[in-house]
Amino acid sequence: MRDALGCFATGVTVVTCVGPDGNPAGLTVNSFTSLSLGPPLLLVCLAKEALSAAALTEASHFAVNVLQTGQRPASIRFSTRDEDRFGTTPWSCGEGGAPILADSLGVFECERYAVHDGGDHHILVGKVVKASFDASLDPLLYFRGSYRRLHFD
Ligand SMILES: Cc1cc2nc3c(=O)[nH]c(=O)nc-3n(C[C@H](O)[C@H](O)[C@H](O)COP(=O)(O)O)c2cc1C
Repeated sequence: MRDALGCFATGVTVVTCVGPDGNPAGLTVNSFTSLSLGPPLLLVCLAKEALSAAALTEASHFAVNVLQTGQRPASIRFSTRDEDRFGTTPWSCGEGGAPILADSLGVFECERYAVHDGGDHHILVGKVVKASFDASLDPLLYFRGSYRRLHFD
């Protein structure tokens, strides 16, 4: 099933928040989906075993940073344990303090709207309070376990 799911090409995001200890938290996520336009909702699925899952499901606000091709190092950092994720990635505070990664392709700043059970994952639904993007950048893609980029023949 894992290999079959890997045939579905996705973008790559880093989902962030401020934890209860006041420190930034976040991880690499490709289970990002638009959900509703009225109200404006999106969702991400977070492994219950992820160390940052508790902070993200409890935070009042979170941000979905959509990565561009130059942010592959950030994607690797935010999916690797024992990395200084925020110490080595330039960021600033967005709505509710959620970290916005510099030079992202797009950013969705959200209020927590709902958290649903999804087997071994939480389904975190956010209401978008601010959306921005840089149309000059190309997306970082993920397909069959590898990072990819768009190309046209
Ligand atoms: C391209 C990519 C996509 C990922 N997507 C998800 C995802 O949608 N949900 C998830 O929980 N983990 C996802 N992961 C795995 C987490 O980023 C990884 O397990 C991370 O170390 C979790 O960090 P934490 O345990 O510090 O919270 C993905 C990893 C990669 C490389």
